[in-house]
Amino acid sequence: MVVRSSTWNYNSIGLWSGDEVVLIDPGLAPAELSMTAARAMGAGRMNAPRRIAHLVLTHAHHDHVRGAHAFPGARVWMPTIAARKPDAARARILAAGDRLSERLAGSPAPLSWPTVDEEFDETARVTFGDGATLELWFLPGHSNCTSVVWVPASRTLLSADYLVSPGVPFCRHEALLFEQALERLLALTDSLPIERVVPAHGDLLVGTEAVRAAIELDLTTFRAMRAAAERRLAAGAAVDAQSAEAVAALVAAASEARGFEAGLLAAQDEDNAARILREVAASGSAA
Ligand SMILES: [Fe+2]
Ligand SMILES: [Fe+2]
Repeated sequence: MVVRSSTWNYNSIGLWSGDEVVLIDPGLAPAELSMTAARAMGAGRMNAPRRIAHLVLTHAHHDHVRGAHAFPGARVWMPTIAARKPDAARARILAAGDRLSERLAGSPAPLSWPTVDEEFDETARVTFGDGATLELWFLPGHSNCTSVVWVPASRTLLSADYLVSPGVPFCRHEALLFEQALERLLALTDSLPIERVVPAHGDLLVGTEAVRAAIELDLTTFRAMRAAAERRLAAGAAVDAQSAEAVAALVAAASEARGFEAGLLAAQDEDNAARILREVAASGSAA
């Protein structure tokens, strides 16, 4: 089950087996959480409603944790580093969530940090219902605390904030780590029968070829930006995230390599360019 929010094309995901449900990153508005719960529990079923047994929170960004409060009694799973965010980071994340709440009628205020029952470092397995399983994989890059979910029974990867807008990666942490995460995902497409991807925002990717193409498009973008920054470094041009000209040069290189301009996602494109400029500048000054 995928419930699409009217905010940020956000996808709340539910899976069930037997009489148990797992929800992944449920959100965002209270009305959407109610709809997610009703559909997941099987509103109108002749037999007893399904039980929401587990919540998987892929990472600690506020849009991914804010819905947890609506499902008391479920076991909450989260990567260790996300579950143990320091107090200052929690306060920052919750404050951003509270700003979103002002736009979402009926949201609890202030938001609270979820209580996590099951932390994991690298991998974990959730078993539910009639023996169905989910694999949780820690995959930092989008943030330092992001994980993704593999659903063997439906050959589906729930990719959190990876692959939300192929060609314009949604990086909120280190671009180099994001690239490594994409390389791991690409390697996985060789060993796993990934038939579809459901990102936490935006459209589903259906078919192995579409999945590979989306991963490769993101890699193309980052590699083109990084190559442009390294050319500038070698030529003695500005490699400075504050330089509009440097950012524009990386964006132009990416647009040419992937074959389109970022359009509505231009701000994200420029943010990626700035992150890569900072990384290349740091590697240049270290060399
Ligand atoms: Fe995120
Ligand atoms: Fe997100």
